[in-house]
Amino acid sequence: MRRPWPRSCRSSAATPSRRWCSHRSSWSARAPDAGLSYGQFAEHLGRCVYEGLWVGTDSPIAHHNGIRTDVVQALRHIKVPLVRWPGGCFADEYHWLKGVGDERQPMVNTHWGGVIEPNMFGTHEYFELLHQLDAEAYINGNVGSGSVAEMHDWIEYMTLDSTAPMAELRKRHGREQAWKVEYFGVGNESWGCGGNMLPLHYANLYRQYQTYVRTYGEAPIQKIACGANADDYEWTEVLMARAAEHMDGLSLHYYTLPTGEWSAKGAATGFSDFEWHETLRQTRRMDEMLTHHSRIMDRYDPAKRVSLIVDEWGTWYDVEKGTNPGFLYQQNTQRDAMVAAINLNIFHRHGARVRMANIAQMVNVLQSMILTDGARMLTTPTYHVFDLYTDHQDAEYIPTAAGALGAESELTVSRKDGAFTISAANTSLTDGLDAAFELPGRVGEVLRAQVLASDTPDAHNTFDAPEAVALRDLDVQVDGAQVRFTLPPHAVATVRVANAG
Ligand code: AHR
Repeated sequence: MRRPWPRSCRSSAATPSRRWCSHRSSWSARAPDAGLSYGQFAEHLGRCVYEGLWVGTDSPIAHHNGIRTDVVQALRHIKVPLVRWPGGCFADEYHWLKGVGDERQPMVNTHWGGVIEPNMFGTHEYFELLHQLDAEAYINGNVGSGSVAEMHDWIEYMTLDSTAPMAELRKRHGREQAWKVEYFGVGNESWGCGGNMLPLHYANLYRQYQTYVRTYGEAPIQKIACGANADDYEWTEVLMARAAEHMDGLSLHYYTLPTGEWSAKGAATGFSDFEWHETLRQTRRMDEMLTHHSRIMDRYDPAKRVSLIVDEWGTWYDVEKGTNPGFLYQQNTQRDAMVAAINLNIFHRHGARVRMANIAQMVNVLQSMILTDGARMLTTPTYHVFDLYTDHQDAEYIPTAAGALGAESELTVSRKDGAFTISAANTSLTDGLDAAFELPGRVGEVLRAQVLASDTPDAHNTFDAPEAVALRDLDVQVDGAQVRFTLPPHAVATVRVANAG
């Protein structure tokens, strides 16, 4: 099959040019990789679980079995493949038995605001959420303050179909059938909030704890070891050297801070052009980290059996004024849309090793899909990027040369179900981008052509104007094998076309 190639050129924002561009970039020769899952992360943190997802069975807010219907409906639309739960830092102080049965036992959520965690949302409610979303389970176990027996019992409670004690307890709590747990994380940030461990100590504990993550069902549980903090390559080296044969995945956490400094993160809105560029520069560091971590993994696992799981990523700003600093509630603008598009593109480029990436977090925390205010709900610019990228999930990625559309753009192209999907982001604050593609075959029907654009870079949705930033139709020209469209400044678009042979 002939490879397609993209072409692009810049035009001024005011007078975007419609001419063809002479510049031609070739597609890279790397083989297409398997699919990527755009996972979500939901922690017991601030208003993510309580209010964001769970309103309880006697709430006046519309819900089904205690889970709000508006949020589920929005999340189903973007085809959430999996939800990582219950944390985060919370996972290493979570004792699952307090969150099952009729007598829930409250606890203090020491990491996140010191509030009382009622434990009303527990294992059964989590699986109800997955059922409503039609998503897979990614449970994060407690190594920091939990025991091997506790982890072992939780696995038995969830996944064993027999008369064993924990399976019987589950049945007494109203669930006859075992659930399926696809992924299980053994500890979270064990180098930090999860126990402040050194890598060799954690590697030994990982080997021990994972032994008791038994597979009772037919499909084996994928075991995920706690991986590095950003560019801590020594952590990856030690984990791969000492425990690779016992893991299916190794995680990586990297958050985008506008300045790269925890002490001076900056606000989610009202930022300067400098902060825009710095934020995008910081987020592009994901590429370099994936390259280096993958290189280390390649030495121990050349067959790429162990996945690199980016199980926490996204922007982290100062909390919104007047909100609890422990709740990590922040607005979400067109800058976040860019961050989302850039990272999804990077993950696809590393698809030979990166098979799952879970944005932090799903509702009301950090770079959220959804914000709520009591009964009101809005979707964010980040949500719209996930909507635009839906068809790339589990599709055949078609490699493109880095910077194929120019230095201020990002691109993902994939093929699935007889159609090509092209997603492009224009990160320039001032210039439009004319993108032109020649696909390897005649282009048939235009199945989708939408753009996420805004008047200002910090445009965002509010509860009074929830549709201020939303997807609009995009004008596309199709001619033979060619597809052309123009992207305004700071915009993301997706075009999906049938392959007519
Ligand atoms: O997502 C918020 C926190 O960030 C998580 O609890 C933790 O794993 C990370 O440090």
